[in-house]
Amino acid sequence: MPRTAYVNGRYVPHRQAAVHIEDRGYQFADGVYEVVPVFGGTLVDEELHLDRLERSLRELRIAMPMSRQALKMISAEVMRRNGLTNGLVYMQVTRGVAPRDHKFPKTPVKPAVVMTVRQTKPVSQEILDNGIKVVSRPDIRWQRRDIKSTSLLPNCLAKQEAHEAGAYEAWLVEPDGTVTEGTSTNAWIVTKDNKLVTRSATNSILNGITRISLLKVAAAEGIEFEERPFTLEEALEAREAFTTASSIYLLPVTEIDGKPIGNGHPGILSQKLRQAYIERVAKPGAFQAEAAA
Ligand code: PDD
Repeated sequence: MPRTAYVNGRYVPHRQAAVHIEDRGYQFADGVYEVVPVFGGTLVDEELHLDRLERSLRELRIAMPMSRQALKMISAEVMRRNGLTNGLVYMQVTRGVAPRDHKFPKTPVKPAVVMTVRQTKPVSQEILDNGIKVVSRPDIRWQRRDIKSTSLLPNCLAKQEAHEAGAYEAWLVEPDGTVTEGTSTNAWIVTKDNKLVTRSATNSILNGITRISLLKVAAAEGIEFEERPFTLEEALEAREAFTTASSIYLLPVTEIDGKPIGNGHPGILSQKLRQAYIERVAKPGAFQAEAAA
Protein backbone atom coordinates (compact mmCIF):
# COMPACT_ATOMS: atom_id res chain seq x y z
CA MET A 1 0.00 0.00 0.00
CA PRO A 2 1.59 3.35 -1.02
CA ARG A 3 2.15 5.68 1.94
CA THR A 4 0.02 8.80 2.26
CA ALA A 5 0.71 11.93 4.30
CA TYR A 6 -1.49 14.86 5.27
CA VAL A 7 0.04 18.25 4.45
CA ASN A 8 -1.87 21.51 4.93
CA GLY A 9 -5.31 20.33 3.89
CA ARG A 10 -4.31 17.65 1.37
CA TYR A 11 -3.65 13.93 1.43
CA VAL A 12 -0.57 13.39 -0.74
CA PRO A 13 1.76 10.51 -1.64
CA HIS A 14 4.41 10.37 1.09
CA ARG A 15 7.25 10.71 -1.45
CA GLN A 16 5.86 14.00 -2.71
CA ALA A 17 4.84 15.43 0.67
CA ALA A 18 6.62 18.75 1.13
CA VAL A 19 6.39 22.08 2.92
CA HIS A 20 7.43 25.54 1.79
CA ILE A 21 11.10 26.53 2.21
CA GLU A 22 10.04 29.48 4.35
CA ASP A 23 7.99 27.42 6.75
CA ARG A 24 9.14 28.69 10.15
CA GLY A 25 9.35 25.11 11.32
CA TYR A 26 12.03 24.50 8.68
CA GLN A 27 13.93 27.73 9.33
CA PHE A 28 13.56 28.22 13.10
CA ALA A 29 12.17 24.93 14.46
CA ASP A 30 9.23 27.20 15.34
CA GLY A 31 6.72 24.45 15.92
CA VAL A 32 5.55 21.59 18.06
CA TYR A 33 4.74 17.94 17.54
CA GLU A 34 3.19 14.83 19.01
CA VAL A 35 3.89 11.14 18.56
CA VAL A 36 0.82 9.08 19.39
CA PRO A 37 0.97 5.30 19.63
CA VAL A 38 -1.63 3.26 17.77
CA PHE A 39 -2.53 -0.11 19.24
CA GLY A 40 -5.09 -2.36 17.56
CA GLY A 41 -6.37 0.56 15.47
CA THR A 42 -6.89 2.84 18.48
CA LEU A 43 -4.87 5.93 19.35
CA VAL A 44 -3.53 5.38 22.86
CA ASP A 45 -4.22 8.31 25.21
CA GLU A 46 -5.35 10.48 22.29
CA GLU A 47 -6.96 13.09 24.56
CA LEU A 48 -3.81 13.47 26.66
CA HIS A 49 -1.68 13.91 23.54
CA LEU A 50 -4.08 16.55 22.20
CA ASP A 51 -4.07 18.28 25.61
CA ARG A 52 -0.27 18.46 25.45
CA LEU A 53 -0.33 19.64 21.82
CA GLU A 54 -2.69 22.47 22.76
CA ARG A 55 -0.52 23.39 25.75
CA SER A 56 2.70 23.41 23.69
CA LEU A 57 1.03 25.64 21.07
CA ARG A 58 -0.30 28.00 23.74
CA GLU A 59 3.15 28.33 25.34
CA LEU A 60 4.60 29.35 21.95
CA ARG A 61 1.61 31.56 21.08
CA ILE A 62 0.77 29.56 17.97
CA ALA A 63 -2.96 29.27 17.25
CA MET A 64 -4.57 25.85 17.39
CA PRO A 65 -4.81 25.19 13.62
CA MET A 66 -8.24 23.53 13.79
CA SER A 67 -10.57 21.91 16.30
CA ARG A 68 -9.55 18.79 18.19
CA GLN A 69 -12.36 16.98 16.38
CA ALA A 70 -10.83 17.93 13.01
CA LEU A 71 -7.38 16.75 14.13
CA LYS A 72 -8.90 13.45 15.22
CA MET A 73 -10.67 13.06 11.88
CA ILE A 74 -7.44 13.66 9.99
CA SER A 75 -5.43 11.20 12.07
CA ALA A 76 -8.15 8.58 11.57
CA GLU A 77 -8.11 9.26 7.81
CA VAL A 78 -4.31 9.06 7.55
CA MET A 79 -4.43 5.79 9.46
CA ARG A 80 -7.16 4.47 7.17
CA ARG A 81 -5.35 5.48 3.98
CA ASN A 82 -2.17 3.78 5.21
CA GLY A 83 -3.91 0.70 6.61
CA LEU A 84 -2.29 1.35 9.97
CA THR A 85 -3.42 -0.67 12.97
CA ASN A 86 -0.21 -0.75 15.02
CA GLY A 87 2.40 1.96 14.97
CA LEU A 88 2.66 5.70 15.46
CA VAL A 89 0.89 8.85 14.31
CA TYR A 90 3.18 11.88 13.96
CA MET A 91 1.53 15.30 14.04
CA GLN A 92 3.37 18.56 13.64
CA VAL A 93 2.14 22.14 13.79
CA THR A 94 4.42 25.05 12.93
CA ARG A 95 3.77 28.80 13.05
CA GLY A 96 3.44 28.78 9.27
CA VAL A 97 5.09 30.30 6.20
CA ALA A 98 6.50 33.85 6.29
CA PRO A 99 9.56 35.75 4.99
CA ARG A 100 12.49 34.90 7.25
CA ASP A 101 12.43 37.16 10.31
CA HIS A 102 12.99 36.09 13.90
CA LYS A 103 9.96 38.08 15.03
CA PHE A 104 6.54 36.52 14.55
CA PRO A 105 4.81 37.54 11.28
CA LYS A 106 3.00 40.89 11.77
CA THR A 107 -0.23 39.58 10.34
CA PRO A 108 -0.72 36.08 11.69
CA VAL A 109 -0.28 33.34 9.09
CA LYS A 110 -2.04 30.00 9.02
CA PRO A 111 -0.21 27.41 11.13
CA ALA A 112 1.10 24.56 8.98
CA VAL A 113 -0.10 21.06 9.80
CA VAL A 114 1.55 17.81 8.81
CA MET A 115 0.47 14.30 9.77
CA THR A 116 2.12 11.00 8.92
CA VAL A 117 1.90 7.47 10.23
CA ARG A 118 4.48 4.77 10.62
CA GLN A 119 4.13 1.07 11.20
CA THR A 120 6.42 -0.08 14.01
CA LYS A 121 8.01 -3.46 14.62
CA PRO A 122 7.40 -5.04 18.01
CA VAL A 123 10.34 -4.64 20.42
CA SER A 124 12.76 -7.50 19.78
CA GLN A 125 12.93 -10.48 22.13
CA GLU A 126 16.62 -9.72 22.54
CA ILE A 127 15.80 -6.32 24.06
CA LEU A 128 13.01 -7.74 26.24
CA ASP A 129 15.37 -10.47 27.53
CA ASN A 130 18.45 -8.32 28.06
CA GLY A 131 17.22 -4.75 28.43
CA ILE A 132 18.98 -1.77 26.90
CA LYS A 133 22.22 0.09 27.46
CA VAL A 134 22.18 3.76 28.31
CA VAL A 135 25.00 6.29 28.38
CA SER A 136 24.93 9.58 30.28
CA ARG A 137 25.51 12.88 28.53
CA PRO A 138 25.38 16.50 29.72
CA ASP A 139 21.96 18.08 29.24
CA ILE A 140 22.71 21.06 27.02
CA ARG A 141 19.10 21.89 26.13
CA TRP A 142 17.06 25.04 26.79
CA GLN A 143 15.02 25.64 29.96
CA ARG A 144 11.56 24.88 28.48
CA ARG A 145 11.75 21.16 27.93
CA ASP A 146 8.10 20.89 28.96
CA ILE A 147 7.19 22.23 25.48
CA LYS A 148 7.21 19.48 22.87
CA SER A 149 9.07 21.64 20.37
CA THR A 150 10.52 20.33 17.11
CA SER A 151 13.80 21.93 18.17
CA LEU A 152 15.61 18.68 18.98
CA LEU A 153 19.23 19.23 17.96
CA PRO A 154 20.78 18.53 21.41
CA ASN A 155 18.59 15.43 21.64
CA CYS A 156 19.75 14.24 18.21
CA LEU A 157 23.42 14.83 19.06
CA ALA A 158 23.17 12.89 22.32
CA LYS A 159 21.19 10.05 20.71
CA GLN A 160 23.82 9.77 17.98
CA GLU A 161 26.57 9.64 20.62
CA ALA A 162 24.65 6.90 22.43
CA HIS A 163 24.35 4.96 19.18
CA GLU A 164 28.06 5.34 18.46
CA ALA A 165 28.80 4.08 21.99
CA GLY A 166 26.69 0.96 21.32
CA ALA A 167 23.84 2.17 23.55
CA TYR A 168 20.12 2.56 22.84
CA GLU A 169 19.54 5.84 24.65
CA ALA A 170 21.37 8.70 26.37
CA TRP A 171 20.13 9.92 29.74
CA LEU A 172 20.78 13.63 30.12
CA VAL A 173 22.41 15.00 33.26
CA GLU A 174 22.23 18.50 34.76
CA PRO A 175 25.35 20.22 36.14
CA ASP A 176 24.08 19.29 39.66
CA GLY A 177 24.35 15.60 38.76
CA THR A 178 20.62 14.90 38.48
CA VAL A 179 19.18 13.02 35.52
CA THR A 180 16.51 14.97 33.66
CA GLU A 181 15.30 12.42 31.08
CA GLY A 182 16.39 10.53 27.99
CA THR A 183 16.81 12.16 24.57
CA SER A 184 13.35 10.88 23.59
CA THR A 185 12.22 9.05 26.71
CA ASN A 186 11.53 9.63 30.42
CA ALA A 187 13.93 8.11 32.93
CA TRP A 188 12.95 5.98 35.94
CA ILE A 189 14.70 4.03 38.69
CA VAL A 190 13.65 1.60 41.38
CA THR A 191 15.58 2.23 44.58
CA LYS A 192 17.04 -0.45 46.88
CA ASP A 193 13.97 -0.08 49.12
CA ASN A 194 11.72 -0.73 46.11
CA LYS A 195 10.48 2.81 45.49
CA LEU A 196 9.73 3.83 41.97
CA VAL A 197 11.28 7.24 41.23
CA THR A 198 10.91 9.56 38.26
CA ARG A 199 11.57 13.27 37.98
CA SER A 200 8.62 15.54 38.68
CA ALA A 201 6.98 17.24 35.71
CA THR A 202 8.53 20.71 35.81
CA ASN A 203 10.02 22.75 32.95
CA SER A 204 13.11 20.50 33.16
CA ILE A 205 11.49 17.58 31.36
CA LEU A 206 8.83 16.71 28.86
CA ASN A 207 5.89 15.35 30.80
CA GLY A 208 5.61 12.10 28.87
CA ILE A 209 2.13 10.75 28.27
CA THR A 210 3.52 7.27 28.91
CA ARG A 211 4.96 8.69 32.15
CA ILE A 212 1.55 10.04 33.19
CA SER A 213 -0.21 6.77 32.39
CA LEU A 214 2.46 4.61 33.97
CA LEU A 215 2.12 6.54 37.24
CA LYS A 216 -1.59 5.69 37.14
CA VAL A 217 -0.74 2.04 36.46
CA ALA A 218 1.70 2.05 39.39
CA ALA A 219 -0.95 3.55 41.68
CA ALA A 220 -3.49 0.95 40.54
CA GLU A 221 -0.96 -1.82 41.22
CA GLY A 222 -0.27 -0.42 44.70
CA ILE A 223 3.34 0.40 43.83
CA GLU A 224 4.83 3.25 45.85
CA PHE A 225 6.38 6.02 43.80
CA GLU A 226 8.10 9.35 44.26
CA GLU A 227 8.28 12.18 41.74
CA ARG A 228 11.63 13.83 42.43
CA PRO A 229 15.02 14.36 40.81
CA PHE A 230 17.54 11.53 41.17
CA THR A 231 21.26 11.67 40.51
CA LEU A 232 23.23 9.61 38.03
CA GLU A 233 25.02 8.12 41.04
CA GLU A 234 21.70 7.02 42.52
CA ALA A 235 20.75 5.47 39.17
CA LEU A 236 24.00 3.52 39.05
CA GLU A 237 23.22 2.11 42.48
CA ALA A 238 19.54 1.48 41.81
CA ARG A 239 17.93 -1.94 41.93
CA GLU A 240 16.30 -1.36 38.54
CA ALA A 241 16.07 1.30 35.88
CA PHE A 242 13.88 1.78 32.83
CA THR A 243 12.90 4.36 30.26
CA THR A 244 9.48 5.17 28.76
CA ALA A 245 8.01 6.75 25.63
CA SER A 246 5.06 6.36 23.30
CA SER A 247 7.26 4.66 20.71
CA ILE A 248 8.60 1.95 23.05
CA TYR A 249 6.20 1.95 26.04
CA LEU A 250 8.73 0.81 28.66
CA LEU A 251 12.19 -0.68 28.14
CA PRO A 252 14.28 -2.02 31.02
CA VAL A 253 17.71 -0.39 31.36
CA THR A 254 20.33 -2.93 32.41
CA GLU A 255 23.51 -0.94 31.91
CA ILE A 256 24.43 2.72 32.37
CA ASP A 257 27.86 3.97 31.26
CA GLY A 258 29.10 0.39 31.03
CA LYS A 259 28.04 -0.51 34.59
CA PRO A 260 25.34 -3.11 35.27
CA ILE A 261 22.16 -1.93 37.01
CA GLY A 262 21.03 -4.28 39.77
CA ASN A 263 21.90 -7.80 38.69
CA GLY A 264 22.33 -6.68 35.07
CA HIS A 265 19.00 -8.20 33.97
CA PRO A 266 15.60 -6.58 33.40
CA GLY A 267 14.12 -5.91 36.84
CA ILE A 268 11.02 -7.61 38.21
CA LEU A 269 9.14 -4.35 38.79
CA SER A 270 10.10 -3.02 35.34
CA GLN A 271 8.74 -6.16 33.70
CA LYS A 272 5.60 -6.11 35.80
CA LEU A 273 4.94 -2.46 34.94
CA ARG A 274 5.58 -3.03 31.23
CA GLN A 275 3.10 -5.90 31.25
CA ALA A 276 0.49 -3.97 33.25
CA TYR A 277 0.88 -0.93 30.97
CA ILE A 278 0.47 -3.01 27.79
CA GLU A 279 -2.59 -4.77 29.21
CA ARG A 280 -4.25 -1.40 29.79
CA VAL A 281 -3.21 -0.09 26.36
CA ALA A 282 -4.87 -3.17 24.89
CA LYS A 283 -8.16 -2.14 26.48
CA PRO A 284 -9.34 0.67 24.17
CA GLY A 285 -11.01 3.47 26.08
CA ALA A 286 -9.42 2.70 29.44
CA PHE A 287 -7.10 5.68 29.25
CA GLN A 288 -9.63 8.00 27.64
CA ALA A 289 -12.08 7.31 30.46
CA GLU A 290 -9.39 8.16 32.98
CA ALA A 291 -8.36 11.29 31.11
CA ALA A 292 -11.92 12.53 31.31
CA ALA A 293 -12.22 11.62 35.01
N1 PDD B 1 9.56 11.42 22.31
N2 PDD B 1 11.13 13.08 26.82
C1 PDD B 1 11.44 13.51 25.57
C2 PDD B 1 12.54 14.50 25.42
C3 PDD B 1 10.73 13.02 24.47
O1 PDD B 1 11.04 13.46 23.23
C4 PDD B 1 9.70 12.06 24.66
C5 PDD B 1 8.90 11.51 23.52
C6 PDD B 1 9.42 11.63 25.98
C7 PDD B 1 8.32 10.65 26.27
O2 PDD B 1 7.05 11.23 26.04
P1 PDD B 1 5.80 10.32 25.62
O3 PDD B 1 5.64 9.30 26.70
O4 PDD B 1 4.67 11.29 25.57
O5 PDD B 1 6.10 9.70 24.30
C8 PDD B 1 10.15 12.18 27.03
C9 PDD B 1 8.84 11.03 21.13
C10 PDD B 1 8.36 9.62 21.17
C11 PDD B 1 9.71 11.36 19.91
O6 PDD B 1 10.28 12.43 19.90
O7 PDD B 1 9.76 10.55 18.98
